[in-house]
Amino acid sequence: MFVYLNDGVVPEAEAMVSVFDHGFMYGDGIYETLRAYDGVVFRCEEHIQRLFRSASLIGLNMPKDIAGIKDAINETLRANSLLNAYIRVTVSRGKGLIGLDPDLCETASFVIMTNNFKPYPAVFYEEGIKIIIAAVRRNLKEALDPRIKSLNFLNNILAKIEAKQAGAYEAVMLNSGGLITEGTISNIFFARDGVLCTPSVACGILDGITRSLTLDLAVKNGLTVKEGEFRPEDLYGASEVFLTNTTMEVMPVSRVDETSYQPGKTAALLVREYGREVAAYVREKECERP
Ligand code: PDD
Repeated sequence: MFVYLNDGVVPEAEAMVSVFDHGFMYGDGIYETLRAYDGVVFRCEEHIQRLFRSASLIGLNMPKDIAGIKDAINETLRANSLLNAYIRVTVSRGKGLIGLDPDLCETASFVIMTNNFKPYPAVFYEEGIKIIIAAVRRNLKEALDPRIKSLNFLNNILAKIEAKQAGAYEAVMLNSGGLITEGTISNIFFARDGVLCTPSVACGILDGITRSLTLDLAVKNGLTVKEGEFRPEDLYGASEVFLTNTTMEVMPVSRVDETSYQPGKTAALLVREYGREVAAYVREKECERP
């Protein structure tokens, strides 16, 4: 595999950043996960815009502009002959002396890692996955702005450890007020009394690109949607639950803690509509294939 490092692709074994990189020392940096379908990077522009938003919220000077990042992603896909790919773009504060001051670092480190996209097991979509509500609470939005897609994932990792210990795939975290926020790497939706519900951005979540497309698709297909404040009881009382993110797309949930759900028609509809949206996007952007 080739990895894009700062100015160009290098063999994986040569893709090294310094131990003095503040991304390594302090988690000082940002990232995006993207997915390519048939050589086309889905909603590439939106992911890059979000990367710039994260950069701006932590005062990080981006080493490339939007077009430069697009080119770098395509170059990495080309170098690895990848069509259906997982793509991770990481930008860290860069190498500097020990100390929190970002000015100790002269230039950001810029890395793109890609891999062949490994689909989730089909049974996940057919039967749904098990999730838990974690005991660990989500970082306060007033402490760490959830709009920053940061390299510092310890909060989410602690929740993921709880999920694993419970034999679950994903953990949903509550905020300090006991409201549902999001999964460790996903947004959550549930259907209740004919309404498709999802925590509002104000609850302290990352405004997922898949979440926003899912909401659009739901409205387009005549569903009533509600972005609001919800508690675990609302989730336990739901008829259907599902997660969304760039790699999962729309992933049904079969169990939250002790409550089970049958695969439902809302998730099925959105799985299908999401697939159609991807196919249309790929057709439209065919000319941008690397
Ligand atoms: N995670 N919430 C969190 C905390 C996330 O990390 C992610 C994405 C999402 C969903 O965002 P999107 O729909 O834009 O992918 C929500 C990615 C997939 C990751 O960490 O690799």
